[in-house]
Amino acid sequence: MAIIEGFGVKNFRVLHDVTIGKLSANQKSEPLTPFTVVIGKNGSGKSSLFDAFGFVADCLATDVETACDMKQRGGFDRLISKGKTGAIRFEIYYRESAGERPITYELAIALDRLGRPFVESEVLKQRRKGQRHGRPFPFLRLTHGKGTVWAGEDAVGEDEAQSSEEDNTQTPVELTDPRQLGIATLGTLKEHPRIKRFRDFLKGWYLSYFYPDAARSLPSAGPQRHLNVHGDNIGNVVQYMEREHKDRFKNILARIATKIPGVKEIKTDVTLDKRVVIQFNDGAFGDPFFAQQMSDGTLKVFAYLLMLEDPAPPPFLCIEEPENGLYHKLLESLATEFREHANGKKNSPQIFVTTHQPYFVDALTPEEVWILEKGKEGFSTIQRVSELEIVRNLVEQGLPLGGLWYSDYLDSR
Ligand SMILES: Nc1ncnc2c1ncn2[C@@H]1O[C@H](COP(=O)(O)OP(=O)(O)O)[C@@H](O)[C@H]1O
Ligand SMILES: [Mg+2]
Repeated sequence: MAIIEGFGVKNFRVLHDVTIGKLSANQKSEPLTPFTVVIGKNGSGKSSLFDAFGFVADCLATDVETACDMKQRGGFDRLISKGKTGAIRFEIYYRESAGERPITYELAIALDRLGRPFVESEVLKQRRKGQRHGRPFPFLRLTHGKGTVWAGEDAVGEDEAQSSEEDNTQTPVELTDPRQLGIATLGTLKEHPRIKRFRDFLKGWYLSYFYPDAARSLPSAGPQRHLNVHGDNIGNVVQYMEREHKDRFKNILARIATKIPGVKEIKTDVTLDKRVVIQFNDGAFGDPFFAQQMSDGTLKVFAYLLMLEDPAPPPFLCIEEPENGLYHKLLESLATEFREHANGKKNSPQIFVTTHQPYFVDALTPEEVWILEKGKEGFSTIQRVSELEIVRNLVEQGLPLGGLWYSDYLDSR
């Protein structure tokens, strides 16, 4: 399973310089856990961190200018940290699987002379094969769309941009569109399998902007493999699961039904005009309820559980404030569900969650939780809760983490 061990953000809104987990330059830090949760007061930067992942994914899916101009972002000038100039930077430190050498991806986005966002630089680097320590070397290095790529599985550059003349794995690259990521283009080429895998990994990220009303719409019939970001194709996913994984799906629905309070049975039906409806039976009334009549919370839990039961889940799943609309006692078990699925095993997703809810945090360990705080100068800092000794000790004595947060033990500064 691929895992992001660390993520660094610079100059992105309130996140002037924030790192979670391990990066190539801070090898002493512990990597991120497969299940990572970020907490913090309003305005501390949770949504910004969530969107930093979304922004990188959108840069790949579209181009950096389109990603900057998307509605929720409002253009580069609003995205760059107030009072700062230069580039917005991201660094992803990840491993394709446990034994693999880590790969670093660095991306810098800036404005050109005419004020248009473009890819200022892009680097992918990895240690040489057989090397367990030491500095990684590039296998893709682009500045202003020009640079070098090293083909195959193992080739890397020499020190910085210099490399030997006779190195036949090395090819000069010049991109035609300065707004496109190099990995978008090069990742389609057979001779660059590492870039392809990284691009595919990034493409597979799933950011949930689930809102229950979307799930109430009646989609046209037609199976779809994965839940979309707004969750309005639940019915289609249900139909897919029913067709492709019939027995497994029955079990899944039965299991989900036991986890949603007040639901005894979940079934599907196709209407005369061939649309899919989900039926929830509460055991009290003979007739089932349809998604249109269900509570926000029920639909939301159903969507999350269905997403987790996906036979081929996305490698990286981000969920912003899953608690909205959910009964507080359900939250601890939802957190436990997330952790059980993000277990580090093959084909399990890595799950990243932001939350406001102490009950959710009660189910977590200090290593899993990061707290964002806005500093006096208006920018955020982040800390892993396991670095707070008092908190670690109190948790060891059996106190729940959410309760400690509620009682202000996590506000270290
Ligand atoms: N370009 C920027 N530079 C600095 N701070 C910014 C910028 N854009 C927004 N902010 C600040 O970021 C904060 C919003 O952070 P957000 O990620 O929505 O927090 P949360 O989700 O934790 O409530 C606000 O306090 C806002 O003033
Ligand atoms: Mg927010």
